[in-house]
Formats: sequence, structure tokens, C-alpha cells
Amino acid sequence: MQTNSILFVCLGNICRSPLAEGVLRKKAEQIGIADQLNIDSAGILSYHQGEQPDKRMLQHAYAKGYILSHKSRPVTYNDFFDFDLIIAMDDSNIDDLREKAPTLEAMNKVHRMSEFFSPSATLDHVPDPFYGGAEGFELAISLIEEACDNIINNFRKQS
Ligand code: 4NP
Repeated sequence: MQTNSILFVCLGNICRSPLAEGVLRKKAEQIGIADQLNIDSAGILSYHQGEQPDKRMLQHAYAKGYILSHKSRPVTYNDFFDFDLIIAMDDSNIDDLREKAPTLEAMNKVHRMSEFFSPSATLDHVPDPFYGGAEGFELAISLIEEACDNIINNFRKQS
């Protein structure tokens, strides 16, 4: 199956997953394939529903050329049918998504972001930057940029 629609998921949908959405969209636009991809993001929590990304995330992303326009929303039942690939930032997100998945097929759409890290990566997740300092946001950006490059490479190989 061709992977055309990708949903990124983190806990609050105000730091990591809206960044991943913005990074992948920009990379897709830069190489002229944005019209072939449906990219969105969502959170396990509904606590931040309707909010724009965390101000620190917006600032760090803007400094790297990414403008994030997403508004936080929780993962829905329909997401498991509407998206081909659901990519979670850490194991806790994976556990929550597996619990929510309505079917086995839906469960199999859930993947870790770290599956798209380079083989030399030392981390197996994108650490949550919310309660930390600037370095956490910078680390999230570099891990997510690397993963998005590999997501794009995979997409181009299969199309
Ligand atoms: P995110 O970061 O999952 O990368 O969006 C967080 C944002 C908010 C909270 C936790 C993590 N929170 O507990 O409100």
C-alpha cells in the first residue's frame, strides 16, 4: 500500500508532533511532493485542544525556518481509518495508541518515530521537551528533521 497519509502523535500535540507535521510538510514542499501527502498531527491528551503549539516550540522551529500553524487536537477513532501511517514519538504514546486502536489493522499502522532515525542513532524515542530547557527543543528538532528525511526517502522509494 502506498503511504500517502501520515499522522504524527505525541502526548499534548503542542510540541513534538506539530513540529513533525511542519517539518515533513516543508520538506515535501521543497521537493514538490506536498500535493501527494496528507500530513497531520494529534495528541493523546485533549487538554490543549484548540491551542497553537507551545511558544518555545514555535520560537525554536521558526529559527530553523519552520512555521507551525497547527492547532492541538486529540487522536480520534476515525484517525485509525483515515491515515495509512500513525507515527508516535515515544513508547508511552505507542501504548496509548495501541489501546485506542479499534482493529488489528489499525494497530499495525502505529509506528515509532525512532524507526526512521539513522542506524547510528543512540536514542529510541523523541524525548518530551515540555518540562525541560532549550536543549530539549533543539534535540527534538534535530531528531525530527532526521526522521522526516527518512520518511521522505521511503515515500520516494515506494512511489
Ligand atoms: P508534547 O509535549 O507531547 O510534545 O506536545 C507535551 C505537552 C504538554 C504536556 C505534556 C507533554 N502536558 O502535560 O500538558
